Amino acid sequence: MSERTLQAIKFDKTNVSLEILDQLLLPYSTSYISIKTIEDAFQAIKLMQVRGAPAIAIVGSFAIVVDTYNYLKYSSESTNRTVESLINSIDYLITSRPTAVNLSNALNDIKNLINKSYKSTDLINQTIYKIIYDYSVALYEDDLANNFKIGENGLNYIKSILKEENFKGPFSIITICNTGSLATSGHGTALGIIRSTYEKLNKSNTNEEFWLDHVYPLETRPYNQGAKLTTYELDYERIPFTLICDNMVSALINTLNDSKPIKHSSAPVKFIIVGADRVVKNGDSANKIGTFQLSVIANYFNSIPGSNKIKFIVAAPNTTIDLNTNSGKDIIIEERPANELTTLKGPVLTANGIGEKLTVGIATPGISVWNPAFDVAPYNLIDAIVTEESSITKDASGKFNLSK
Ligand code: MRU
Repeated sequence: MSERTLQAIKFDKTNVSLEILDQLLLPYSTSYISIKTIEDAFQAIKLMQVRGAPAIAIVGSFAIVVDTYNYLKYSSESTNRTVESLINSIDYLITSRPTAVNLSNALNDIKNLINKSYKSTDLINQTIYKIIYDYSVALYEDDLANNFKIGENGLNYIKSILKEENFKGPFSIITICNTGSLATSGHGTALGIIRSTYEKLNKSNTNEEFWLDHVYPLETRPYNQGAKLTTYELDYERIPFTLICDNMVSALINTLNDSKPIKHSSAPVKFIIVGADRVVKNGDSANKIGTFQLSVIANYFNSIPGSNKIKFIVAAPNTTIDLNTNSGKDIIIEERPANELTTLKGPVLTANGIGEKLTVGIATPGISVWNPAFDVAPYNLIDAIVTEESSITKDASGKFNLSK
């Protein structure tokens, strides 16, 4: 295995260059790809070499910076680029992945900042470049700072629930997809809460009578972000975990509720923590396909009298909140190609290292396939939405009051 890293995005301020960690090669190989143009970013985002709502917004923004910088530095005056042509390229980049609102939020912000001071026929200049640069650097830096706040707010919510229930001893957390450093500028959202919780309850001196014993990341079919990326991050951090398939969740919770150990832990699942690609006005939250069923499962167990209670938490920065959309029914769910279900792609693992990449068929060729990348957990099945500002819970009438 080549040298390990959790840095998904490398932006060099001095040389104004951008590299992204090719997440399709993880966990077997650490390899960075250079992003020089908006088209490069479009392809990398679409192919999911970079993925995760905050990360694609940051890469999209930095790609505009690099593209504009290189244009101003190298192009001759005869190729005069107008504001209109740049705005068209940004609109194209927005279409690379439709569900995560972070990408369109960030890129629309950049467009609005330019449109405020310039006409469509104006030529791109250094001041426009500076606007894009400042916005993108702030987006990256704020995301990192906000993830630590989400981690802290999530930890405080977890502590308050466990104290309220007078819970003592070890507990477990389930999570889906990858919401960690690799999906953001660092630390992560849902995985950021898990990181902060482990750091404070297990590694620091604490007077609490409960601790995080085990994390169960879901494999996250069909793209396996859980199996490939979340396990990579948990392993990197030495947080104890056991990988499970997406269809093992109910059995896992049931087994642990009966105090039967799974591998080396019998700590009950107290929290299911997920990220989000878009949280809309009423609190409905789009996230990786399989998230909806997790919210149903948590609520099923909570409805059994005397059963161990599980809180379903959505972790998301304000950049993921979309107050212009009223309910989850209006969220566009990206559908991805059939071959993501019918084939598996990956490097051949040999005794000496990693060999050439192979595609293996795992379904009948030519069949009908439905491959939505996301689903929506309805607000009524969500206990808390944790942002950098606070842990938002429902009011007395059972509604979330979201603001930015
Ligand atoms: O298809 P992906 O890998 O981009 O999906 C990612 C997710 O669904 C994440 O949970 C979400 O983007 C939040 S990342 C902090």
